[in-house]
Amino acid sequence: MKTDFMWGSATAAYQCEGAWQEGGKGLSNWDAFCHSEKNVVNPVTADVSCDHYHRYEEDIEMLAAGGQNAYRFSIAWSRVIPDGIGAVSEEGVAFYNRVIDCCLAHGVTPLVTLYHYDLPQTLFERGGWENRETCKAFEAYAKVCFDRFGDRVRYWATVNEPNYETQCCYAVGNYPPNVQDLGRRWCAMYHILLGSAMVVRAFREGGYQGSIGLVSDSYSIETLVDNDEYREAAVNAELFYNRCVNDTCVLGKMPQEFVDKIVADGCNRDYALPGDDDIFRAGTVDYLGVNAYARYLVKPYTTGETCLKASNTGKKSDRQEAVVKNWFEIDRDDSMPTNDWDMELYPKSLYNLLIRLRELYPETFFIITENGIGYKDVLEEDGTVHDPYRIEFQKGFAEWMLEAMKEGVDVRGYFVWSTMDLYSWINGYAKRYGLVYIDYENGNKRIPKDSYYWYRDFIESQEV
Ligand code: BG6
Repeated sequence: MKTDFMWGSATAAYQCEGAWQEGGKGLSNWDAFCHSEKNVVNPVTADVSCDHYHRYEEDIEMLAAGGQNAYRFSIAWSRVIPDGIGAVSEEGVAFYNRVIDCCLAHGVTPLVTLYHYDLPQTLFERGGWENRETCKAFEAYAKVCFDRFGDRVRYWATVNEPNYETQCCYAVGNYPPNVQDLGRRWCAMYHILLGSAMVVRAFREGGYQGSIGLVSDSYSIETLVDNDEYREAAVNAELFYNRCVNDTCVLGKMPQEFVDKIVADGCNRDYALPGDDDIFRAGTVDYLGVNAYARYLVKPYTTGETCLKASNTGKKSDRQEAVVKNWFEIDRDDSMPTNDWDMELYPKSLYNLLIRLRELYPETFFIITENGIGYKDVLEEDGTVHDPYRIEFQKGFAEWMLEAMKEGVDVRGYFVWSTMDLYSWINGYAKRYGLVYIDYENGNKRIPKDSYYWYRDFIESQEV
């Protein structure tokens, strides 16, 4: 490795920390959901998970020993401000100080996400992101983080995946509050984007050092047929999945075509207030964080009501589906390989995506904030974990990213999802993404997988 390009891996607080009732932490919506009768698909919790709260030193040491120079993690809002608003928990602040200091002691650059799905339960009960007050609370919480950690953190991300999160919360209905209502979904997404813009504005006004971005699940949108109808479906899908978020945070304006379409769908946009445009304009990001997993193949809408379905079982027969009435439908190419959760394995999609993002946003830079594959990894009797499929996947994506960089796309970091195995939202613990295996049955022992060593050597051999 020759430069300051960030080669790292990523986690999120709820998924790995555990210690859900320790250190003065308040409850989050995910604590509450996982302990409720609504948690039926894979009824487990992340109360302990891989216990990163107590073992972060070991995890960061392993990450650094694996040649990685950057670690993306998120702060649990409910650890820092247990009630969501008001008093700061010094114990919570002290924990993240230790994590950040540990990174720096190992020469690891921290990239800190302020909000990765876990909302303080107090705010969730008041409507969560459907309530505009949550934006203000988010800004106040972010300022605490900037003040307490900003002397050492140089890369911030405001929120993780406003699109995918709200799709799961309000369209698929498998994340809390388990609703299927696109109108409510667009309202929540609007407020997440507004809250993010308020945080970016506060970051600039406060004169804090470093770069601030937003992490967006973004997809290469492709079709199997090239004609006007298919092209229109692709335009619609790009608005639906990517541009509603990316235009808003990078260009400071929600695309008018997107607004027109949701209004045509009958969505009431009373939540968009005069003055918000100024906030969006003042809150444009320094970089776009790209979570890259798969492309979306789309085709024209034909018939039926809107229906979005995720595959949460890990059974090959269980498919992801999407019909978005009057917008598009998801298409399939059955010749493509998929994992057990019906995710297509297509590394070139990252190249296609980056070329498109550069076309849309030539002034910004990009960080691949997540890229990974869920698999039912097996711990062999001799204590090793062989995951050639993960090596093939990560290598393919990383190489296509490098190809896009050769063509001039400004990418400054690449983070594998995930640093170690952790709780997978709704999918539980059988779906593993880590470079390091967690033996949940045996004291959460950490076992580097073959991919961990492959990644170390790959990073070492890089020119960037
Ligand atoms: C991303 C999230 O959408 O995908 C991560 O930012 C998540 O938090 C990852 O874990 C994989 O999704 P899942 O549902 O398979 O764990």
